[in-house]
Amino acid sequence: MISIHFKLLMTIQLRVYVPPHPLIKHWLGVARDVSTPSPLFKSAMTELGRWLTYETIRDWLPTEEMMIQSPLAACPATMINPEVPLVVVPILRAGLALLEGAQTLLPLASIYHLGLVRNEETLEPSCYLNKLPNQFQPNTHVLITDPMLATGGSMMLAMAELVKRGVDPALTRIISVVAAPPALQKLSSSYPSLTIYTAMIDEIVNDQGYIVPGLGDAGDRSFGT
Ligand code: PRP
Ligand code: URA
Repeated sequence: MISIHFKLLMTIQLRVYVPPHPLIKHWLGVARDVSTPSPLFKSAMTELGRWLTYETIRDWLPTEEMMIQSPLAACPATMINPEVPLVVVPILRAGLALLEGAQTLLPLASIYHLGLVRNEETLEPSCYLNKLPNQFQPNTHVLITDPMLATGGSMMLAMAELVKRGVDPALTRIISVVAAPPALQKLSSSYPSLTIYTAMIDEIVNDQGYIVPGLGDAGDRSFGT
């Protein structure tokens, strides 16, 4: 298992991180378990969104150095730079389940919804809702949330929509829960400067486009449909 992941990561250019955090491992286990009921599955997604965002933003959140006044003396402080636009793009539906956790850490980020759905036969994604602005500022930092990166078709479409509106892939991060090699390879070829944080890499995408073992249909399980 480790060697297959190692070989995969050697062949792709983009940065893929699987944070070794016990809370991420725990909530991934809860989400994978077929007996987990929908409300608990949604909680697991919220927690995974929170902790994956926490790991992701360590070296992504723009900060500035300043002097502040404590009750006793002046001292230096490192604060979030309010001048740099922060954006979260949840890929509906399933990406909404990660959003709540992400928002607790990025309360000032603007949220732009993108609704994508795969055709169950062809697995080709199509867009049914696009709330992106016509143009993003050049230094906009973008966090995309989508728990499943399977064939990669949906995320490639999301990236194309963002990049044509001025988003820089080098300032863009994706959080996912389970990522599979076809998605990582496609994204790496087109966007080598992209960074992905995922709770797990699973090797198999079956003929129906599901990741194995994966966690099933993330949208249906999040929303009880
Ligand atoms: C799921 C998932 C991703 C996509 C991944 O969405 O949330 O967006 O599939 O598959 P891909 O990498 O092969 O494109 P789905 O189309 O099932 O819609 P949903 O979120 O509304 O359930
Ligand atoms: N979308 C899902 O919800 N699950 C998968 O395994 C693949 C795509």
